[in-house]
Amino acid sequence: MSENPSAIIERIRSKTSELYSEIVGIRREIHRHPELSFQEFRTTALIREHLQRLKLKIEHDFLETGVVALLEGSDRKPGRTLVALRADIDALPLQEENRHDFCSVENGKMHACGHDMHTAILLGTAAVLAEIRETLAGDVLFVFQPAEEKAPGGARPLIEAGLFHHYKPSAIFGLHCFPQLQAGKIALREGSLMAAADELYITVHGEGGHASAPHKAADPVLAAAHIITSLQHLVSRVASPYDPAVVSISSINGGNATNVIPGKVSMSGTLRTMNEDLRILMQKRLRQTIEHTARGLGVEAELDIVNGYPVLVNHPETTRALRQAAIEYLGEDKVEECEPLMTAEDFSYYLQHCPGAFIQLGTGRKKPEKGNTLHSPFFNPDESSIVTGVGIMSYAAWSWLAR
Ligand code: NI
Repeated sequence: MSENPSAIIERIRSKTSELYSEIVGIRREIHRHPELSFQEFRTTALIREHLQRLKLKIEHDFLETGVVALLEGSDRKPGRTLVALRADIDALPLQEENRHDFCSVENGKMHACGHDMHTAILLGTAAVLAEIRETLAGDVLFVFQPAEEKAPGGARPLIEAGLFHHYKPSAIFGLHCFPQLQAGKIALREGSLMAAADELYITVHGEGGHASAPHKAADPVLAAAHIITSLQHLVSRVASPYDPAVVSISSINGGNATNVIPGKVSMSGTLRTMNEDLRILMQKRLRQTIEHTARGLGVEAELDIVNGYPVLVNHPETTRALRQAAIEYLGEDKVEECEPLMTAEDFSYYLQHCPGAFIQLGTGRKKPEKGNTLHSPFFNPDESSIVTGVGIMSYAAWSWLAR
């Protein structure tokens, strides 16, 4: 029994509004009890309990935390398809400074990236889709993923544990809170949306000595200053002006006296790029610039790079289908084009194996509030965006299967 899209939209809307206060309650419950990456045991138990109540099949436990569950649609076409929906569930090591009555009770831990919202939205989506399961032209896989916040992240081990070996979704969708956009709206982008983020660790080895006699030492502090400055030429002279790149040296440590040249300086920072070719090129040129600048100044320097998440690339066909679904569900004025973001997300790993798209969900208020940004102790998303999140995830899954 296939229903027409406008009837489905009506059913999704009414079920979402019926469930709204329950989903808000779930979100606040998760918000009160944030758990760090790979320690999400309480959150995992909460998710399992809700999914079991909806009679979803809890699948294979791929990792110690997180849940993968399947909703079998009953309107099955031959060669039926599977669509996957993903939420991340972990929190940040951050002390909450909000004053609302559902603040974190865990000292030094906070859902400051909105993963409590993502989890509650996906549970709401499961409830809505379970309600209309007789109209689903395929199955829906719900992926509640642990440990997005801490590289190497939870997505990669989940995939390595066999997620895409057991399931072959034809698309995967996910979303993230986006406080710079007003609640009620979403933003989408085809192609590169979020950056590859690599950690840089630089050590400059010199020869310490008396600060009054620098000619008898090899000064790693002066060399470190030259290195920091020279690295910016990579952004202005190696990366194409049409291809964004960021190099930030964000910490520098060395020496502890006014009259002693230290033997060593350590620095760390981040490299952000929007495509893999530029990422490789920048890594190579960073290493050369650091080593050669140091050598030219009579010291030695080495660079360690810890590769973070790859570039998040939204697949054109799924993004277009998602945009179409979003316009049908929300209206054209609620669907914006997203600019590339230099933040990173391990949803990118799924997109290396499976077509899909990542949505930025507006969670901002009409009047922008200072400090209400991601990873801030004052992060406080507009909960009305839950309605948009549940609606768009549900309808995106339904319409992808109905194609
Ligand atoms: Ni996040």
